[in-house]
Amino acid sequence: MSDARDRPRGAWTRRHLLGLRELSAEEILAVLDTARGFSEISGRSIRKVPTLRGRVVVNAFYEPSTRTRLSFSLAAQRLSADVLEFSKSGSSTAKGETLIDTARNIEAMGVDAFVLRHSAPGAAAVLARHVDAAVVNAGDGAHEHPTQALLDLYTIREHKQRFEGLEVAIVGDISHSRVARSNIWALQKLGARVTLVGPPTLVPSRFAELGCEVSHDLDAVIPRVDVLNMLRIQRERQGRLNFPSTKEYSRLFALTERRLERAKSDVLVMHPGPINRGVEISPEVADGKHSVVLEQVSAGVAVRMAVLFLVVQAKESAQRSGERPALASPVTSETNRRPS
Ligand code: CP
Repeated sequence: MSDARDRPRGAWTRRHLLGLRELSAEEILAVLDTARGFSEISGRSIRKVPTLRGRVVVNAFYEPSTRTRLSFSLAAQRLSADVLEFSKSGSSTAKGETLIDTARNIEAMGVDAFVLRHSAPGAAAVLARHVDAAVVNAGDGAHEHPTQALLDLYTIREHKQRFEGLEVAIVGDISHSRVARSNIWALQKLGARVTLVGPPTLVPSRFAELGCEVSHDLDAVIPRVDVLNMLRIQRERQGRLNFPSTKEYSRLFALTERRLERAKSDVLVMHPGPINRGVEISPEVADGKHSVVLEQVSAGVAVRMAVLFLVVQAKESAQRSGERPALASPVTSETNRRPS
């Protein structure tokens, strides 16, 4: 423990990061500040620090991923942790082993943190009740994707230096989006105003109950916002298409160069990826001067280093003070059902 980055962040005492809804503004800012400290490591000739040397991080992915998985893996390696990679495909899940049994068996090998992506909302919370290791939610169904929202916030802060009074539009398939939910909770806690935009089938008016404005008219929203966060249509979570056709969706809600002409000159265009070019965003805008899409990906490594550091530090601090992990509660979730 040698520099400011290694000092405990006063606001952070959690062993798990399950979602942003439960976090305070101070806790969110503690992660962003810690990530800022870690971001400088990416520019060094030797991009590694010994902070988590001797610790083991497990990437357990029950759903596909490119960015989240690789950046958690890189983040853990930059902190000198050992990394185990688990995928549903090719694992004993195919033989009927449940999430909890799988996790307990992996934990028996000696594990400090689980990073879990799963299709079931609440999967990370259930896992956290059954292991002593720290648990980080890397996306649970349509519920939350906290590290994606944290890297989105990090990118916004790098460009705008503030959240208070910022106007942020989140555009697209809000109903099925864990990215949208985590962003909504965090942005509002930090003082930003959030407008949700999309067709009524994907942005029902009930979302106004979360304190957001709901709009079905992207062209009306574009001129007043500071940030446009474009989301993918989550076909994998939709039973049937929730709009007449992809062409019709794009005509009304794709961010094109023509639409962007009416935006503020310093508007940020964001997208969590993967992008469906020509559907929710045109290739010219995705690669254009307002786009910070690849900056978001870069920020993901520093943010995930910060999260792994904070939760493992909190776990070890609790263990040192003799705090016993909460007793496992009865397994009732679908996460302990046999996989179909
Ligand atoms: N943004 C995001 O979660 O991307 P991946 O599904 O590739 O991890």
